[in-house]
Amino acid sequence: MLKRTKYCGHVCEEDLGKELVLNGWVHRIRNHGGVIFIDLRDREGIVQCVVEEKTNPEVFELADSLRSEYVIALRGTVRRRPPGTENPKLKTGNYEVVIKELEVLNTSETLPFPVDEETHLSEETKLRYRYLDLRRESMRENLLFRHKAYQVARRVFGEEGFVEVETPFLTKSTPEGARDFLVPSRLHPGKFYALPQSPQLFKQILMVAGFDRYFQIVKCLRDEDLRADRQPEFTQIDFEMSFVDEEDVMSFSEKLISTMFKELLGVELKTPFERISYAQALEKYGSDKPDRRFGLELIDLSSIFKNTEFKVFRQALENGGVVKGINFKGSNLSRKEIDELTQFVQSLGAKGLAWIKVEDGKLNSPIVKFFSQEETHALIESTKAESGDVIFFSADKREVVYKVLGNLRLHIGKKYNLIDTKRFDVFWVVDFPLLEWDEEENRFVSLHHPFTSPREEDILLLQEALRVQDLEEKKRLIQSVRARAYDLVINGYEVGGGSIRIHKKELQELVFKLLQISELEAQEKFGFLLEALRFGAPPHGGLAFGFDRLVAIMRGLDSIRDVIAFPKTQKGICPLTGAPDYVEPKQLKELHIKVVE
Ligand code: AMO
Ligand code: AMP
Repeated sequence: MLKRTKYCGHVCEEDLGKELVLNGWVHRIRNHGGVIFIDLRDREGIVQCVVEEKTNPEVFELADSLRSEYVIALRGTVRRRPPGTENPKLKTGNYEVVIKELEVLNTSETLPFPVDEETHLSEETKLRYRYLDLRRESMRENLLFRHKAYQVARRVFGEEGFVEVETPFLTKSTPEGARDFLVPSRLHPGKFYALPQSPQLFKQILMVAGFDRYFQIVKCLRDEDLRADRQPEFTQIDFEMSFVDEEDVMSFSEKLISTMFKELLGVELKTPFERISYAQALEKYGSDKPDRRFGLELIDLSSIFKNTEFKVFRQALENGGVVKGINFKGSNLSRKEIDELTQFVQSLGAKGLAWIKVEDGKLNSPIVKFFSQEETHALIESTKAESGDVIFFSADKREVVYKVLGNLRLHIGKKYNLIDTKRFDVFWVVDFPLLEWDEEENRFVSLHHPFTSPREEDILLLQEALRVQDLEEKKRLIQSVRARAYDLVINGYEVGGGSIRIHKKELQELVFKLLQISELEAQEKFGFLLEALRFGAPPHGGLAFGFDRLVAIMRGLDSIRDVIAFPKTQKGICPLTGAPDYVEPKQLKELHIKVVE
């Protein structure tokens, strides 16, 4: 076989007049009667190769038998393309390789779809033939970019004294808020390993072991409902540090992220990153991971309408809720468009979507007749209403209003192209509450995870909350306990999250109690961690970035599937291999498992 001396995509000025050997795939072949042009493709790109019948009849004949995606090797000399025939779209577009020797290494059947960027394919088809999909330039570039991102991250961790340690996959459950994937044990009938939702407990234990700084680029497995930014297996850049506070973890994170942006994209991010509080994020954007690349901020109107005649608003306020609005300025929406937006919020569980159109200086809406003059006046003032604006209202419990208007805001931003997609908006969300009340489970749950430390000054509140019997009083106390947690948000995605951990056994037990995890359950599930905390655990904290999300955002992609070589579909299926699949009855028997229909 002719062995490659250069990648196709690397052919350049210095190769002029030189002889090269190229290996690759026939991307396109054109016979112009007497001259054949082959676009030869490899990992690094495409170069045009050419053979003339009259100068090289034997090679010409062989070249004429080639079809798309045949695998070939060729030897040839590089020359400049004749003036007027250059291809500015190709990196190698000024050159071509005159073929002297040609070898066919393999043929290819006709592909189910062409290797190009134009053909629209269903997700199913793309993943079924992922090896062909990955031959496309954009997909190849995504994975090569991801590869460089690993390299930069590893280097930064190395420079900062982090030690790479692998943690087990066959392990016990780590609560990160999703279901576990379980693996039955053949040797221990009836027992199961859980695949890790994250290395959280092991990294904390590595701190107890004295490793001081740990990192791992690691798969995490979570059995949850999938979306464009969620996969059942995904990759974290996970790290943990000892003898640190929030500032240290955040400042190292800033160094890592800004180095990646600079080296991979040439983008300078301003450090330290901006910080906004959880409460502020919800108040202004209705989301704890707001996309701030456009306006449409939420405006609180509760005080304006506290005595209103309009029943929908009054009832919401009387029930302890809020009235908020957003002003879609200068939008001049039609009734049809307003109806579409109403349907959208109703699909999120909103009871309705009151609206006002401002036309010729007048407020137009079936609801304005219920407003007093003062209300109307104050409304115009707070929303800065002008002709052409459309104002939307949500009146309900605070959480519902956040959800409705937060989602409506995003929906409008996307639908009406309000988002400045050239910008990277990178910031921290801080001051999370430690716990929140879960209506469904009828108990408190952790906002981050149960190992997150409360603020030192809030521990007394926690102790008091444990003592009081009255649930409402308990909720009130717990509401004001802040976590030492931080999330990194980029362009409306939660790209990373972490916290300073609890390193004292007593405090960990107190938090478990508030989460209504009994002593027995705590022992069974996390006894090993509680035990480790008894033997000299240093203060520690860390963070994990969602690597797939980070890479997708850096590449300007909407779906993390485009930066994962072999992702699952929305239904959790791998169309390439057919996983998940049935197994042999013999295997089930060995595992002591019976499938119940
Ligand atoms: P958390 O659960 O917030 O924290 O996860 C960290 C980051 O991982 C990404 N992520 C996901 N990406 C793709 N698909 C998923 N299903 C998915 N789930 C999460 C997100 C998220 O910000 N142990 C803690 C970290 C710590 O406290 O140090 C943890 O796992 O970008
Ligand atoms: P109704 O009195 O139910 O006819 O509602 C009057 C207007 O208020 C309609 O435009 C509804 O879509 C809207 N509306 C109803 N419930 C709410 C709510 N909770 N928040 C905001 N608008 C609502």
